[in-house]
Amino acid sequence: MPSPSLIPSGKARVAGVAGWPVAHSRSPRIHGFWLRRYGIDGAYVPLAIRPDQFDLAVRGLAAAGFSGINVTVPHKRAAFELCDVLSPAARRAGAANTLVFQDGQISGDNTDGWGFLASLRERGIDPAAGPALLLGAGGSSRAIAASLQEGGVTVTLANRTRERAEAMARDLPGLRVIDWEQRSAALGDQALLVNTTTLGMAGQPALSIDLDRAGPRTAVADIVYVPLETPLLAQARARGLTTVDGLGLLLHQARPGFAAWFGVAPEVDAALRDFVLADLLPA
Ligand SMILES: NC(=O)c1ccc[n+]([C@@H]2O[C@H](COP(=O)([O-])OP(=O)(O)OC[C@H]3O[C@@H](n4cnc5c(N)ncnc54)[C@H](OP(=O)(O)O)[C@@H]3O)[C@@H](O)[C@H]2O)c1
Repeated sequence: MPSPSLIPSGKARVAGVAGWPVAHSRSPRIHGFWLRRYGIDGAYVPLAIRPDQFDLAVRGLAAAGFSGINVTVPHKRAAFELCDVLSPAARRAGAANTLVFQDGQISGDNTDGWGFLASLRERGIDPAAGPALLLGAGGSSRAIAASLQEGGVTVTLANRTRERAEAMARDLPGLRVIDWEQRSAALGDQALLVNTTTLGMAGQPALSIDLDRAGPRTAVADIVYVPLETPLLAQARARGLTTVDGLGLLLHQARPGFAAWFGVAPEVDAALRDFVLADLLPA
């Protein structure tokens, strides 16, 4: 017989994560851990929502009394577009990953950039220590670039498809775009290198970059978290550079949503990290 404290009551607050597909999402595990840890009367569920049903489904969840939802691929732009109210971070990123349903309104935030900065601080890195080189111009890159810029950091961007980087620079003035081939040469001036491409992910080729061009104090972050130590991070660690893996972002980005829906500001610690990691490691 499970502990009655683990069974949601009729008054439980309910949230979830909307994606298509959603089966790979670790968010239920993260929020489920916190719900248990803090003994909260609540539930957090995966929501497989087809893109053509997204608006209908989200309005339905709000009408059904959900407190809010996380939004993952491919819905972050659609979520941004349906919100009544947007945070400055969501506006800068042009995407929303955290929705709060309250008083008949849908409010959208983007916590990826905030979560990334928190993951740097957790490793003792000051995000505003100096210029940053960002690789990749996808959805996550936009949120991370905007947060770094917000902290006064000069961001240089290299993307395989240059036009995509230039489109991002139009939305984020001050962003410096270089050719993909220039990424190693640009390393010397950077306090931080961030990989936001899919390179290094399980099943993908490794990112090729010459870390000999980096200074001894350049920190190297990779937002890919499967595997946790990407070839890029292994190479950086072998050179004695400070590294930041993608799990920190995954965990920290979840905090603002949980606080808004369940009323407790949750902590990211080793126990949570191990719990989520157990699900990422091959059996
Ligand atoms: N840690 C976390 O919580 C977290 C959060 C979000 C995302 N992620 C991870 O971050 C990665 C990117 O996610 P996203 O949503 O931003 O993806 P996305 O929007 O699909 O963008 C993918 C990026 O990777 C680049 N790319 C793909 N294949 C490449 C190749 N062979 N050579 C060079 N560049 C290549 C793309 O360049 P083009 O523009 O040229 O196609 C694009 O810039 C994924 O691995 C995802 O799992 C982690």
